[in-house]
Amino acid sequence: HALIYDVARLERGLAQAKGLHFYVDIIEPLPAWLLGDSVRIKQILLNLANNALKFTEYGSVTLHAEWAEENLHLSISDTGPGIPEASQARLFQRFEQEQGPQRNSGSGLGLAICRELVGLMGGSIDLQSRVAHGSTFHVRLPLAIPEQPALSPIWPVESVALRSLRLLLVEDDATVAAVIRGLLERQGHLVRHVGNGLNALAEVEQGTYEAIFLDLDLPGVDGFQIAQLVRQCEDSDRRIPIVAVTARSGGDEELRAREAGMDGFLRKPLTGEQLAEALQRVVA
Ligand SMILES: Nc1ncnc2c1ncn2[C@@H]1O[C@H](COP(=O)(O)OP(=O)(O)OP(=O)(O)O)[C@@H](O)[C@H]1O
Ligand SMILES: [Mg+2]
Repeated sequence: HALIYDVARLERGLAQAKGLHFYVDIIEPLPAWLLGDSVRIKQILLNLANNALKFTEYGSVTLHAEWAEENLHLSISDTGPGIPEASQARLFQRFEQEQGPQRNSGSGLGLAICRELVGLMGGSIDLQSRVAHGSTFHVRLPLAIPEQPALSPIWPVESVALRSLRLLLVEDDATVAAVIRGLLERQGHLVRHVGNGLNALAEVEQGTYEAIFLDLDLPGVDGFQIAQLVRQCEDSDRRIPIVAVTARSGGDEELRAREAGMDGFLRKPLTGEQLAEALQRVVA
């Protein structure tokens, strides 16, 4: 986890400078500790993520991690130009590059180095790509789980801030929704927006959201009622954090929101910092 969040921290700055999103998608459970050469693994991820950010002009780059069949699977996906099938194998060789405006900003060594390092670790690297749709580089590393970790697992404190959360935003005002969504996406989160309570309930039922931002004043079923309905339908072991958002000032809304089962409370207008703090509090 620490290694992945380190890479995310370094790459997110680059992504923001280019107007791209950088998402981190960790499929749990990932072992708390693995035995491997963290410096080299980081070098591979940075090479692949730097490429993805370099060649992508619109959209996002996602770093995905999963433990399956005794292997650590890491991948970097982008929504960039893609790589024609005929060139795919060749690009893993030294000094091989496609034509393009970014050609002079590198020497064509990154992928060759990745392939050599992955090979030395007994793993494999593959590319899946479709022209005009993007590319995904898959890295598989056969790493051992240590029997007795030297240290107890300590997550970096910023882990929530660096993870990409799947969030549901329930807000009927399209302009306000666009602003909140923008602030959350800039922090690397995946946001789905709905404008009323019924759609919100349908989303909660089908989706796998990690937190909900819920406007209290909605047409039809209001935020208090939605929160109560969500809590009624929930299993006790899967409680989605709900943060109330309101334009009302003063009054007893905060108390009523808590009574309806909400975990956080924010007043508009909102800043990115307030959203991040609320998430840190309710998701951590
Ligand atoms: N995510 C990607 N999307 C599109 N093309 C890519 C992507 N990753 C690599 N390529 C293509 O593969 C070529 C080789 O990549 P590689 O990382 O080896 O070299 P480079 O990035 O050009 O230079 P260097 O890594 O040495 O700075 C790139 O020049 C580019 O044409
Ligand atoms: Mg490169």
